[in-house]
Amino acid sequence: MNSVELARKVFWVGAADPDLRVFDIVVKTDYGTTYNSYLLVGEKVALIDAVKEGFENVLFARIEEHVPLERIDYLIVNHTEPDHSGAIKLLLARNPKIKLVCSKPAVPFLKNIVNDESVAIDGVKGGDRLDLGGLTLEFISAPFMHWPDTMFTYCPEEKILFPCDGYAAHFAPYESIFFKPGDKVHEKEAWHYYDAIMRPYASFCRKASQAVIGMDIKIVAPSHGPINRDEPKRFIEKYLEWTAPKNVGDKKRVLIAFASSYGNTRMMAQEIDQTLQQAGLSTTMVDLAHIPAKELRDHYEAADAILFGTPTFVGDVVKPVWDAAQLLMTVSSVGKKAAVFGSYGWGGQAVDILESYLEGLKLKVHKPGVKARLVPSQTELEECRRFAEAFSGFVRQG
Ligand code: FEO
Repeated sequence: MNSVELARKVFWVGAADPDLRVFDIVVKTDYGTTYNSYLLVGEKVALIDAVKEGFENVLFARIEEHVPLERIDYLIVNHTEPDHSGAIKLLLARNPKIKLVCSKPAVPFLKNIVNDESVAIDGVKGGDRLDLGGLTLEFISAPFMHWPDTMFTYCPEEKILFPCDGYAAHFAPYESIFFKPGDKVHEKEAWHYYDAIMRPYASFCRKASQAVIGMDIKIVAPSHGPINRDEPKRFIEKYLEWTAPKNVGDKKRVLIAFASSYGNTRMMAQEIDQTLQQAGLSTTMVDLAHIPAKELRDHYEAADAILFGTPTFVGDVVKPVWDAAQLLMTVSSVGKKAAVFGSYGWGGQAVDILESYLEGLKLKVHKPGVKARLVPSQTELEECRRFAEAFSGFVRQG
């Protein structure tokens, strides 16, 4: 595939990586990916996003179908992750006069990537414009979609939105770089991309999508996967659907997620559940030894607060609870309220260990958690009730 014309003086000059099967160590890419890069040739020349290191020769060759590398004036860096910044140093080696343009939060990241004080880096903010002469670039702030550095770029003359990782898919199309209406594989991979990469930042994705949904957009040109000119707002609309708040309703929702080897932590969970319900909260109890991860992630998003119940086993949190706690980083959980309870034989450290872990993930943790030794006594069950009443007040605050 050669470079592809998107509009007058706007070209796709990226690279395909169809054999990639895992991205960023953890994200499965059954259909490979592309590293999309765009060349805009006004009186000045701009490149939007670079490619991963190793694909620079493809990028350079496609640029030089239109202009020599020495004619590039600006590299717009919408996002600094290495799949888009890996080739920057190699590009600068060919043309050291290129000015890098990025969001202000991206400036220190870029400095750490190029490690060369002589490189010109211009930090811009949302609403700033760059006149290329015949083409204009407008910058739109989109922080945490999915890094703090992220911005979108919009070309008003051709009505093209360049949202970098936003509305992207790890999907290397077979014969065309353009979106095909009704392509089920692309639809599936677009969801997988959101689920695996964007979902922890759902509220930020929603805010950015709300900001662009009303714009006059003819083409959405992301940094991975097909370029959409047939239904340009399709995945912006999908993001608004996928990021819709799930914890709606009159009552605050508490998820009680526990594991129990011999029924003792379960007894505590049931006592806490009853007390929370009596306090007017909506509760859901899930046994972490049996719930699929996909279902649990949905429960996390729907909950205003999460109570974890874990026995102490060999001085640690039991594995189903550890696995569940680690899933928190795959959804939007920062600032969510939480607490921990559990039974133990002689140590009880699991409650304290998990509290520290949740605080490290920036959840708001109500402490101390409640513990019961072996089979909870009436006194210990009374402690569970008092703990639940206090937690209910904590959930209702703010
Ligand atoms: Fe495509 Fe966040 O890099």
